[in-house]
Amino acid sequence: MSENKSSIKTLSMTREAGAPLDPPSQYAGLRQEAPISRVSVWAGRPTPWLVTRWEDARTVLASSGVSSLSTRPGFPTAVENAPAMPPGYFFGQDNPVHDTFRRALTREFMVKRVEALREPTVRIFDQLLGGMTDSGGSADLVEAVALPLPSLVICELLGVPYEEHDFFQSHSKILIDTAATGEEKAAAHGALGDYLERLVEDKRRKPEDDLVSRLGEHVNAGTFSVRDAADLGAFLLFAGHETTANMIGLGVLALLEHPEQLPRLYAGKAELANAVEELLRYLTIAHMGLSRVATEDITVGDITIRAGEGVIILLNSANRDADTFDDADTLDLARVNARQHLAFGYGIHQCLGQPLARMELQIVLPELFRRLPNLRIEPGRDVTFKQSSAAYGPSFMPITW
Ligand code: HEM
Repeated sequence: MSENKSSIKTLSMTREAGAPLDPPSQYAGLRQEAPISRVSVWAGRPTPWLVTRWEDARTVLASSGVSSLSTRPGFPTAVENAPAMPPGYFFGQDNPVHDTFRRALTREFMVKRVEALREPTVRIFDQLLGGMTDSGGSADLVEAVALPLPSLVICELLGVPYEEHDFFQSHSKILIDTAATGEEKAAAHGALGDYLERLVEDKRRKPEDDLVSRLGEHVNAGTFSVRDAADLGAFLLFAGHETTANMIGLGVLALLEHPEQLPRLYAGKAELANAVEELLRYLTIAHMGLSRVATEDITVGDITIRAGEGVIILLNSANRDADTFDDADTLDLARVNARQHLAFGYGIHQCLGQPLARMELQIVLPELFRRLPNLRIEPGRDVTFKQSSAAYGPSFMPITW
């Protein structure tokens, strides 16, 4: 089957007021009636295919016939001539470039290395929570804990010296601040890039047991340049900061809505791990979908996506597919197949930082509710959400305890 232009619909990816934890309700209809269809998502831009079911999402993401290179003709982007990503931002590269950079980091996210970050993560959480509770009886959870925690953990991961954490943290905050201007963001991006380049050079001279020092070894071996190594560091911040922050905020909201399920967080290690997987499935913060362009004709179900056509894989629809997840719109922290979710993507670009994200969430969510048993949204105040950001989550979360 090929495209029928007269049937092209326009789709808004905006969540509905009153249901901030759910994907837009029309996704359920698409899964039933037109699971793979050409839908206009950005006015005036070419019409990509939209993949809404779990099985089809996996097929497309695992296919060797799709590309992540945003400069390829047909790649679905909201704006024309979107700038090319530097190679170090390897989620936007195809193999072999993607593979070169990913391999340089694979060991950094193995269980042993991530476990070494557990103690620093607990310490960072303690400090942030202590600062929050010492300063009064209410706070914005996003500002106080959700945003600073992942960026400080990334400082530990990279090996940013302690006295430079504030610089790193304040600049990374500007990058994702919806109130910051384009110039402020560009300046913060430039300053962080320059800082990371200096850090790579310093660690090439005086290596320590950290990620940037190991990137320095790759530079010395000629695998990539100092600039590439700095970009890799900046990419890790980009990939692991707002994503984890949003999952912390939304996870707390979902648990506040379902207090009867809180005991699952304390029922044992496996139960806690499963609860986090279910929250990842249910909330799926990568809510704008993953973009790809076909490099060859690929057949998915009874649809042929032609070479050169764009595809958006809607993870937040796939994760609510009732063919895979029973009662998919219900949050069930004891769900047996929660781990089959696609919240971290699938295929060669599947999230490299997922063990770290899991560890952070498994620490923060139970500890927050254990330490603040009366945690709630401040009466009379509203949580606000970032609708247009690639990673969905709260921008402001007034809490009291
Ligand atoms: C809950 C938090 C997170 C979520 C939901 C998430 C989600 C994702 C998704 C959906 C992708 C796939 C992108 C694509 O296929 O185009 C991805 C890729 C990636 N993520 Fe995460 N992520 C999270 C946290 C992190 C953290 C903490 C790090 C590291 C510090 C990280 C590093 C990466 C990297 C390096 C990639 C690119 C992998 C590749 O292209 O091979 N992520 N993430």
